[in-house]
Amino acid sequence: MANLLIRIIILFFLITIGISCGNSGNKLDKKEDKARSEKEQEYYLDQGKIIASKTFETLSKELSVKIGEEGVAGAIKYCNVNALGLTDSIADLYSVEVKRVSDKIRNQNNRADSIELAVISGYRDMMSKGEQLEPILVQEAAKVRFMAPIILKELCLNCHGVPGTNILDQNMEVINQYYPQDRAIDYSLGDLRGIWSISFSKQ
Ligand code: HEC
Repeated sequence: MANLLIRIIILFFLITIGISCGNSGNKLDKKEDKARSEKEQEYYLDQGKIIASKTFETLSKELSVKIGEEGVAGAIKYCNVNALGLTDSIADLYSVEVKRVSDKIRNQNNRADSIELAVISGYRDMMSKGEQLEPILVQEAAKVRFMAPIILKELCLNCHGVPGTNILDQNMEVINQYYPQDRAIDYSLGDLRGIWSISFSKQ
């Protein structure tokens, strides 16, 4: 936890450096500012959790239906065409940007940036110490970013588990055909697969 916090504090410092001005205001202003920013943080955390779970539900439901109808190979093709569109449609609904990013990606568009990589590595440290992973917010100049862990479940092993053991050979062939640079395999149940990264633009 301490590790992640230190990383986030450093990031926060780097991002906000230069934009904060010298006007410190009086004590009352400061109190009001604090209350407002706590309220804002609560709002972004709540909204982030809702949007992440809505997106997760939508993707999982579509996946299960497709696997039922056309098997795992059919679902891989479906994901290839529709996964980003599905996340974007939920993002549009809430006027935010929704990404699922990872340090070991299948689709090159889901590559984590430096802030997201720092959060992923912080989460990994916490997991190795048996600590509970919580969503976090990072304030940037023009946006607030909500990030939360994506943990590997049973269903996910079909396409992100160990080839030959969890991923059938014929399905691995389809994955390689659509994603020749795929690195999103060899995960176990309960592993950190990546993170949600949801950006709210500041009004
Ligand atoms: C039927 C196969 C299949 C199953 C089952 C599956 N995925 Fe994926 N996953 C994919 C494909 C294909 C992509 C790339 C989607 C794209 O092109 O946008 C992907 C991408 C992702 C990404 C985005 C990062 C990246 O590597 O591109 C995450 C995160 C992810 N999956 C998590 C999960 C989780 C968690 C589960 C279980 C709840 C799961 N997946 C189940 C096939 C699958």
